[in-house]
Amino acid sequence: MKVTVIGGAGNVGATCAQVLANKEIADQIVLCDVAEGMCKGKGLDMYESMPIFNSSSRLIATSDYADTANSDIVVITAGIARKPGMTRDDLLKTNAGIVNSCAENAIKTSPNAIFVIVSNPLDVMTYVALQKTKLPRNKVIGMAGILDTARYRTFIAMEVGVSVKDVHALVLGGHGDTMVPLTRYTTVAGIPITDLVAKERLDAINARTADGGGEIVKYLQTGSAYYAPGTAAAEIVEAIVRDQKRVLPCTVLLDGEFGYHDICLGVPIIVGKNGIEKICELKLNAEEKDLLDKSAGHVQKTIKEAMQILK
Ligand code: LAC
Repeated sequence: MKVTVIGGAGNVGATCAQVLANKEIADQIVLCDVAEGMCKGKGLDMYESMPIFNSSSRLIATSDYADTANSDIVVITAGIARKPGMTRDDLLKTNAGIVNSCAENAIKTSPNAIFVIVSNPLDVMTYVALQKTKLPRNKVIGMAGILDTARYRTFIAMEVGVSVKDVHALVLGGHGDTMVPLTRYTTVAGIPITDLVAKERLDAINARTADGGGEIVKYLQTGSAYYAPGTAAAEIVEAIVRDQKRVLPCTVLLDGEFGYHDICLGVPIIVGKNGIEKICELKLNAEEKDLLDKSAGHVQKTIKEAMQILK
């Protein structure tokens, strides 16, 4: 298995690569980035940690797409990150061009790869990658729901005072302020969260989750989160490589599911060796569907803007 991380010199890309390497998820992990020195430095440093991790993964650091040839999976994390006061949509203009050209280059050398998209605004960048690569929709997966759900699970675990392992939850929708944490599907080891936490606290946790990325940007000042985003991207790669049939909330192209067409949005899917093995449709109540509609409307508008920019 060969996995390429484009944007591998950035914080999200490097974190993703390191998780893949530490867990020996791929034999070859290629860090590809226009920032050649940073890429080579991080790649070599990472390779030098493999004896300590007792991992046989080999790391290749490059600015040349020829070195990424015949990758089984391509992860795109390239693009600029948010600064304080910016929304993910503020990144649209710059990142649409970057993701478009990364996808174009990568599909030429790795025509059989499955693509995992991480750059922001996430749902829109997944759509851009689908357009550029012309791949069938099962082979292009956007990472955001895993991150949003991980944040939500962490906040619930903090509130209840239990291990994050025992918190099961699902966050749907676009990766932005309009994301939809599904309280009704949240349990602690099977116990409905509504039995354990008061409604006002749950509302506050939902709001904190939606602002989860912004909270980190405010602390960091110079960029956005990367440990959780990079690790979340690696989780998708692992599910594909090991054909795990994991049920993970990811951004995918919808073709009638949940009542939406021609839009990339976060929904639960089964991930295995073919990428998206299945899209899992849930019965949403009126309130949940209304929130998802709002989120879809926002993403749809931003997709249109992106298509204009790339014309
Ligand atoms: C976040 C950015 C990476 O949510 O979208 O932290």
